[in-house]
Amino acid sequence: MWDPAKYLSFGDHRARPFFDLLARVRAESPRAVVDLGCGPGNLTVTMAQRWPNARLSAIDTSAAMVSAARQRGVDASVADLREWVPDDGTDVVISNAALQWVPGHPELLAQWAGHLPRRAWIGVQVPGNFAAPSHALVRELVAEPGWFERLEPLRLREEDAILEPEGYAELMIGAGCEVDVWETTYLQRLDGEDAVLEWVSGTALRPIRAELADEEWQEFRSALAPRLAKAYPRRADGTTWFPFRRVFFVARTR
Ligand SMILES: C[S@@+](CC[C@H](N)C(=O)[O-])C[C@H]1O[C@@H](n2cnc3c(N)ncnc32)[C@H](O)[C@@H]1O
Repeated sequence: MWDPAKYLSFGDHRARPFFDLLARVRAESPRAVVDLGCGPGNLTVTMAQRWPNARLSAIDTSAAMVSAARQRGVDASVADLREWVPDDGTDVVISNAALQWVPGHPELLAQWAGHLPRRAWIGVQVPGNFAAPSHALVRELVAEPGWFERLEPLRLREEDAILEPEGYAELMIGAGCEVDVWETTYLQRLDGEDAVLEWVSGTALRPIRAELADEEWQEFRSALAPRLAKAYPRRADGTTWFPFRRVFFVARTR
């Protein structure tokens, strides 16, 4: 289950890559704009301001996220982006921080490029931190006796959840697009106790949370907290540095 309030608790850090992505999408007057994996819609609505004459729609598989997006006035529907098919007026496709949840998304990207109109834009951002301690320590704990038996059916995302920047560049060029690819590591400064644990609880740990009873979940968090605190020590002023790599591309059909 996605929890919109938990997800928005680090809103500023999560919003910045979206605006860095959108800054490179130079569409002037798109007919239709779609946000795939829109989440709570707080970022989607900014596209209505940028392109007031476009038909803006959004989809997400989480009913809670779609409900939060609708409350912000977004034309959002519960749907799986793997089923989404571009129509002839779709001039801009945005997917921010969602495709890392979708195995096989490179094939989808190539298909979309083949179906979009000429000179359409596809803007994508995915986290590129699956090798970082924040993810590696979770995989390590899940593989330990005690947790392994309880969480065995779970398939956690590995380092192959996304492509490297060159992978996306080759993919989109192969799909007949012009492409602009880059990566950024944001040095995020988080407030509060167990800040990295709180961050991952809103995203990467959700599949684990869903498998465990409340008590087991607290036990899992207690086991993970000191490992994360060692990898990301809290500073004397109470803040914690949490470096976060993200991969971006903007492709344009010819
Ligand atoms: C990390 S949130 C990002 C939300 C928003 N794009 C943002 O930047 O704030 C990822 C979202 O992707 C959605 N999602 C994951 N897999 C999906 C799929 N197959 N189809 C549609 N949405 C999906 C999740 O429900 C979640 O709301």
